[in-house]
Amino acid sequence: MATRHFLTLLDLTPDELHYLIQRAITIKSNLKAQGPRYTPLPNRTLAMIFEKSSTRTRVSFETAMAQFGGHALFLSPRDTQLGRGEPIEDTARVLAEMVDAVMIRTFSHAGLETFAKASDVPVINALSDDYHPCQLLADVMTWTELRGSVKGRTAVWIGDGNNMCHSWINAARQFGFHLRVCCPKGYEPRADIMAAAGDQVSLMHDPQAAAKDADLITTDVWASMGQEEEQAKREADFAGFQVTEALLDSAKPDALFLHCLPAHRGEEISHTLLDDPRAVVWQEAGNRLHAQKALIEFLLLGKVSPQA
Ligand code: CP
Ligand code: NVA
Repeated sequence: MATRHFLTLLDLTPDELHYLIQRAITIKSNLKAQGPRYTPLPNRTLAMIFEKSSTRTRVSFETAMAQFGGHALFLSPRDTQLGRGEPIEDTARVLAEMVDAVMIRTFSHAGLETFAKASDVPVINALSDDYHPCQLLADVMTWTELRGSVKGRTAVWIGDGNNMCHSWINAARQFGFHLRVCCPKGYEPRADIMAAAGDQVSLMHDPQAAAKDADLITTDVWASMGQEEEQAKREADFAGFQVTEALLDSAKPDALFLHCLPAHRGEEISHTLLDDPRAVVWQEAGNRLHAQKALIEFLLLGKVSPQA
């Protein structure tokens, strides 16, 4: 069977994604009840290539492998041959001879696809310039845990049409909810990604109108990693797009707020938003561990029985 990769949410079927969310919830509840006793991957290794910084992604993947009885290797381009120009495909082939899966955080999504094509072991996108699908597993898991099925509900993306926004668009397609994307003019998500989502996604430019009666509101930084030099211009262009408690008040009374983090208080969110009970970002961050455990287990072992 061809190796399965997870470069975007479209690499799994809606059924498989639903399975992953339920499996992540089970893995989490078993961990809380029994501690880390489930070790389905003894001595298996995950190579983790980080070309950009990370806190949550590194800690969650490394902890997932340790708790599963395996091991994670942190590889930075600074001290591997990747940073000295060894071709991506050669690196992919070499790693596949030794490790069981590879996780990559990088700039170019095309480079990630090149790597995956050359790899005989599963490759996981841990953030590229275009997508952040692992974050969406944790986000949909959190939303499901707190509010039940997300099908038919309405989520609102406020801010930059960036990698996170693209993955929210794909999530709307795959999980069957509606997404309102609300961004300043000139910062829309990629037109082809929007078009492929059809009626599941609508584009707006007025945060107040977008937030009205929503089930969930989410945002992200205005300048992503690699865009640091645009920070000042973006701060000006995104004025009026800050998510505040007052904006959440326009949503449904039981609406939730998510943010992939790191957050910039006083920029894309108000100084106090993360203290509001509607903000469930710490649970969301913690769910990276459980959701990625479900993902790694699925890619390496396939679907497992609910008792496992
Ligand atoms: N949300 C997220 O991916 O966080 P890190 O950049 O800390 O990994
Ligand atoms: N859009 C952000 C997400 C960080 C987790 C970035 O790419 O920097």
